[in-house]
Amino acid sequence: MTQGPDLSVEALDEAAAALELERLAAEICYHDRRYHGEDAPEVSDADYDALVRRNREIELRFPALVRSDSPSKRLGAPVASGFAKVRHAVPMLSLGNAFGDADLREFFARLHRFLGQDGAAAERVVAEPKIDGLSVSLRYEAGAFVKGATRGDGSEGEDITANLRSLEEVPERLEGKAPVVLEVRGEAYMTKSDFQIINARQEAAGLKVFANPRNAAAGSLRQLDAAITAQRPLRLFAYAWGTLSGRPEDLLGDTHWQALQRLKAWGFVVNPLSRLCQNQEDALAAYRAIAALRTDLNYDIDGVVFKVDRLDLQARLGFVSRAPRWAIAHKFPAEQAVTKLEDIAIQVGRTGALTPVATLTPVTVGGVVVSRATLHNEDEIKRKDIRIGDSVVVQRAGDVIPQAVSVLLDKRPADSTPFVFPTHCPCSLSTPVVREQDGAIARCSGALACPHQQVEKLRHFASRGAFDIEGLGEKNIKAFFDRGLIATPDEIFTLAARDSEAAEPLVSWKGWQKRSVRKLFAAIEARRRISLQRFIYALGIRQVGEATAKLLARRYRSLAGWYTAMLQAADERAAAPETGKAEEVGEAYAALCDIDQIGLSVADDLCRFFQEPHNLAVLERLEAALEVEDAAQSDEGGAPVAGKTLVFTGSLKRMTRSEAKARAEALGAKVAGSVSKRTDYVVVGADAGSKAAKAQALGVAVLSEDDWLRLIGETA
Ligand code: IVH
Repeated sequence: MTQGPDLSVEALDEAAAALELERLAAEICYHDRRYHGEDAPEVSDADYDALVRRNREIELRFPALVRSDSPSKRLGAPVASGFAKVRHAVPMLSLGNAFGDADLREFFARLHRFLGQDGAAAERVVAEPKIDGLSVSLRYEAGAFVKGATRGDGSEGEDITANLRSLEEVPERLEGKAPVVLEVRGEAYMTKSDFQIINARQEAAGLKVFANPRNAAAGSLRQLDAAITAQRPLRLFAYAWGTLSGRPEDLLGDTHWQALQRLKAWGFVVNPLSRLCQNQEDALAAYRAIAALRTDLNYDIDGVVFKVDRLDLQARLGFVSRAPRWAIAHKFPAEQAVTKLEDIAIQVGRTGALTPVATLTPVTVGGVVVSRATLHNEDEIKRKDIRIGDSVVVQRAGDVIPQAVSVLLDKRPADSTPFVFPTHCPCSLSTPVVREQDGAIARCSGALACPHQQVEKLRHFASRGAFDIEGLGEKNIKAFFDRGLIATPDEIFTLAARDSEAAEPLVSWKGWQKRSVRKLFAAIEARRRISLQRFIYALGIRQVGEATAKLLARRYRSLAGWYTAMLQAADERAAAPETGKAEEVGEAYAALCDIDQIGLSVADDLCRFFQEPHNLAVLERLEAALEVEDAAQSDEGGAPVAGKTLVFTGSLKRMTRSEAKARAEALGAKVAGSVSKRTDYVVVGADAGSKAAKAQALGVAVLSEDDWLRLIGETA
C-alpha cells in the first residue's frame, strides 16, 4: 500500500481528519492481515507503530470522528497470544469412517453386537450430509449467544466469538423458550458461488487466492480482526450439541431427529437434506440419494453422516477413543486425476522411516492443487511398477495425503526410468538404510544422530496435537536446527534466554521482526504448562500416538509416576530373555501390557525409548523446564470401580459384554481379558467357565451380574 506525505496532525481540519482516519483504518487493517493472517508483514514494526500512533493522535483531537471500525478499538488485545483458548467441557469429537457399503453394514453389525436385542432399534438412524467446512461450538446462556469457539484439538479450541457473531446464521438470541445453557455445534462453511466471488475479490486486490471453499472458510473464520470475517459470506448448519443445563431428553427430545427440529425452532439452519432412515437398507438408499445430489449442491460435502436416532441408545453406546460408537461418516469415493510423475524424492520421518514421495506436474483433484503424492514404500513402487516420467492416477480423500494409485501403462514414455531406492539416508551423514525384518519399511540406522530425524522429532514435538507452539512450524524448526540453535526439544524452552545474549539475535535474522520474535517467545512460554497426555505424545515414541498417550496418562496419572514405571519396565525388559509372556518379564512390564489396547509391541517400543540414555537426559531437562500437569481424575473418578481392574466372563442378561466393558471403562475401570492376582473383580454371567474358577482360586472378589449393576449404581 502506498502512502503520501503525512500532514501534521495539528494541520488537519475536520474533513481532512475524517479522510485520514478512513485511510489509516484501511491501511492498518491491511497490515494486520499481512502480519496475522498471512504471516507476511510488509512494513517494519516502527512504521506500523507510527501508523497506529497517528491514528490515535487524530482521534484524540477529533473524538467525534472515531470510526466504528477504528483500529484503536481492537488493538487492546495482546498481539502475541492471538486467540484466547477455550476448553470444551464436552470434547468435540471426530467420526469414524466407512468407505463403502460393507463398512456401513459393519457399523450396523457393531450396533447389534454392542446392544444385543436393542440393536434393531438402533438401526433407525438420521442421515445428514457431511459438510466440508469447520466445526464450531456456539454457547448460549439464557438464550443469548455468549461464546463461539473452533474445534481445535477437540479438547481445546480458540475463542472466535466476535467472528462468529458476524454470521447471519448464528442467532444472537434463541427464539422461544431457551435453556439456561445450550451449546450448539455445527459446521461453518462457504458456498461454492461465494467462494468464486471472494477469490475474484482477493485476486483483484493482489491477495492470496484460496484453494477451495473450505480453506476460504477457515481463513475467514480465523481472522484476528472480526471486521474481515464480517465481510466474508460464511454460513452455518447446526447438527449437534455439547454442554447442556439439563438432560438432553428434557431439552432436545428423545431422538436426534427431534433435536434437529428443536434446533430449527431456536433459529438455527439445519441441513434440509437430512432424513430419517428406518433401517440399514433405508440408510444405504439415503447415501445414494445424497451422493446423487452432490455436484448440484452449492456447498461441498464429502460424505453422509449416520447417527443413531434414539438418544438413550446413543448414551449407552458412548464413545471409543475420539469418536462416538453411535455415528459414522460414509465418505464419498476419493476424487482422482491423471498427471505426470516428474521425480521421486525421499523423505525421512521422525522414526527414520524413508518414504518415497512423488513430485507431480500440478493437477487439480477435487478442487485442490496437488503437486506431491506419497508412494508409501519401495515395495509399493515395485508392485505398481511406477517409474519416473509415467502418467499416474493420483487421488485425494478428505484430509489424507494424496496418493499415487496406479500407472497408465499405455502412456508410458520410452525414456521412463525405474526408481532405484537409496541404500543410504539422504541426510548429511549418509547412514546406511536398514530393512525391518518383516516390514516393507526402510529405516535410516542413524537414529538420534540423523539430522532429518532430529528435525522431524522437533516438528512433531511442537505440532498441533503435541505442544502446539504457534510459529514453530517446519520452516522455523529447520532454520533453528541448521543454525545450531535447537537440537533437542528441551532447547526450545531455553531459546529466549539464549537469544537475549546471542551475538546475532533472532530480530537480526532475515524475515524476523521485533513483533514476530515476541510472538514466538510468548507462544513458547505459554506451553511451559502442559498436560501429561500431550507431553507423552510429544516425545514421538514409536507407536505412541494420541490415543495411546492418553491411555498412559490416565493410567499413570503423573509424570513422575509414568517415568518411574517406564524405567522399571525397561529394566525388566532388558533383563528378560525373549519371551512372549508379559507376566514373566516383570511386574512393571506386565502392568504396562495390561493396559487395554497396549500390546507387547507398544510396550517394547516404550521400553526401548527408556533404555536410551540420550532420551532420559532430554526427559530430565524437559522435566526441569516444564510444569507437566497430572492427568485429571476422570469425571466419574468417584465411582467405586474407578481404578479397579475387572474381568467379565460368561454371558450377561442386561447388557452385552461389549457394553459392560465400555461402561466399566467410562467409569474409570480397566477391563482385562484374563484373571490374575492384579484383578479386583470378576463379574460372572451365565455359563461362566474357567475364569470364575481361577478367580476363586486366587481369592479375587467374584460378582454376579446384579452385584455388578448395583456397584455401578444401577438397580438390578
Ligand atoms: S457430527 C460426535 N454431523 O465432520 C459427532 N459432523 O469427521 C460430531 N461434520 O468434526 C460430529 N458434517 O466437523 C457431524 N452432519 C454432520 C457433519 C459433521 C460435517 C464434520 C465435523 C466433524 C467432522 C468429523
